[in-house]
Amino acid sequence: NNKITIAIDGFSSTGKSTVAKQLAKYLGYVYVDTGAMYRAVAYYAMGNGFITKDYFDKKGLIDKLSDINIAFKFNEGLGFAEVYLNSVNVEKKIRTLEVSEFVSTVAAVSEVRHKLVEQQQQMGKDKGVVMDGRDIGTVVFPDAELKLFMTASAETRAQRRYKELIDRGDAVVYDEVLKNVQERDYIDTHREDSPLVKADDAIEVDNSNMSLEEQFNVILDLVNKAI
Ligand code: C5P
Repeated sequence: NNKITIAIDGFSSTGKSTVAKQLAKYLGYVYVDTGAMYRAVAYYAMGNGFITKDYFDKKGLIDKLSDINIAFKFNEGLGFAEVYLNSVNVEKKIRTLEVSEFVSTVAAVSEVRHKLVEQQQQMGKDKGVVMDGRDIGTVVFPDAELKLFMTASAETRAQRRYKELIDRGDAVVYDEVLKNVQERDYIDTHREDSPLVKADDAIEVDNSNMSLEEQFNVILDLVNKAI
């Protein structure tokens, strides 16, 4: 078994999940989208009134954490796993701009992180996993054989996220998408617990000017060197 662990971290909308999915498919590895897990918890917090634009009942959410069950189920048709919150498929519902506006606040809560990190470590314990997020190379799998840190300019990233939201039929305004990307990056890099930071041994990949194919080839090269 020469399977490795591939940790992909970086700012919002740097194309982590796109390349992670490509790699998992190519290598026959499992792909774990940890952002989806934080989004599912944020979605739960919103649905149960723990977080609104005006307040955050952090303690209320922490008390309910044991009621929150997050799971992934592979969807053959789509070719990737969808996220389930307490047995309900929430894959689409967690990708809205509204969830994006609350997720970083929820993800800054240590108790939330602790629960999800434990589950992530469990999912990757047999290696052969591509996991993307903000703290995979630093906290979840500090011993990962390959760590990538993806970057791209804020405008490139906002453009991509904007197109994604428009393509799925969400009526969003570009400036709000840009503002959200910037706000999340700020919260994610400034939080006390597991802030987003490049691991010392991570390889930085700036894909601002790379096509998807170029990016995949650059990264596949790094994978082959790490295996
Ligand atoms: O990857 P995605 O943009 O979907 O992640 C949504 C949010 O979840 C991030 O902005 C961050 O606040 C949080 N997150 C995190 N740690 C991870 C993955 C995501 O804090 N490993």
